[in-house]
Amino acid sequence: MTVGSTDIPAPMGLLAELTHRCPLKCPYCSNPVELERRSVEMSTDDWKKVFSQAQALGVLQLHLSGGEPSARGDLEEIIAHCSTLNLYTNLITAGVGIPKERWQALADAGLDHVQLSVQAPTAEANDFVAGFDGAFRAKIESAGHVTSLGLPLTINAVIHRHNINTIEDTIELAASCGARRLEVAHVQYYGWGLKNRQSLIPTREAVLDCMAKIEAARERLSGSLVIDAVVPDYYARFPKPCMGGWGARSLNVTPSGKVLPCHAAETIAGLTFESVTEKPLAEIWYESESFNKFRGTTWMPEPCRSCDRREIDWGGCRCQAFAFTGRADATDPVCEKSTFRNRLSEIAEADAAAEEAFEYRSF
Ligand code: SF4
Ligand code: FES
Repeated sequence: MTVGSTDIPAPMGLLAELTHRCPLKCPYCSNPVELERRSVEMSTDDWKKVFSQAQALGVLQLHLSGGEPSARGDLEEIIAHCSTLNLYTNLITAGVGIPKERWQALADAGLDHVQLSVQAPTAEANDFVAGFDGAFRAKIESAGHVTSLGLPLTINAVIHRHNINTIEDTIELAASCGARRLEVAHVQYYGWGLKNRQSLIPTREAVLDCMAKIEAARERLSGSLVIDAVVPDYYARFPKPCMGGWGARSLNVTPSGKVLPCHAAETIAGLTFESVTEKPLAEIWYESESFNKFRGTTWMPEPCRSCDRREIDWGGCRCQAFAFTGRADATDPVCEKSTFRNRLSEIAEADAAAEEAFEYRSF
């Protein structure tokens, strides 16, 4: 099947939100504001079926996420199944409530990689952002168990106003934990992040300072720690190729089985999403209206339609376009060619100066 100038490739990655349950309450959580409850979560067999279908579809990497994926007692069984399918498994975890024996069991099941979130580089700051006392201590213990088992460890740090000034300490923490990689991600402002933008967004000056410190650390730690970081959307000139393009490289499955082109896709009003409990994954990937809606380039209006970057950023982020303009097919407002760009800059500046308490994630 051809959409625009692009044949539909098989997806490389699948992000499985195994559950939305989580002990932490981060105010920028990428889960939807309307979280799915335990009563609607798919069973162990349902998830095994999803992963078998994903492997047949061509998926190579599974990101086992949540919420907190270890809140599911069947995580070892799920990983063991994925291991028999030769799927690469990356566990995205808060690292809280996982004792040494459970880490051993996850490794024995065939887990390939661990991505551990850190909210801030000190216990006090970390536990404040996470809304959970003792989280920092538990994370450091988990990092120790992971590395002593020989599993590769990535630290994931979501950056915002409350931790941007301590980025150097976060980098040192990642290095001292034995992480091979640090992912510095800036808060994405939809869902919970949008709700809390006035208490999370940093100033442009703080962002520039942070990026300079990361650059210096990259040189200093070259060969021991890889640092991934990009300029946050609101202070960039062009958007990122969100998800590597809509329906181009990866897909998300929610706890109940809904299949989404990205984790925030449900924020776009008017789109409906199909479930793996009702249709095969391949049919949803290739044929569903939601996946084909913004695939390739033919859906693009001007200025994207004739822009040189249209197959570089694929028009940016549909969720961000909808959140700002009310139209999911609009040019991403981050782009300097968007008529909303000035408005976005005004909002970013005003919100960066606001002093609001954030609302923690909750059901
Ligand atoms: Fe990307 Fe569209 Fe902006 Fe071009 S006009 S840089 S394709 S968002
Ligand atoms: Fe949905 Fe960017 S988060 S397209």
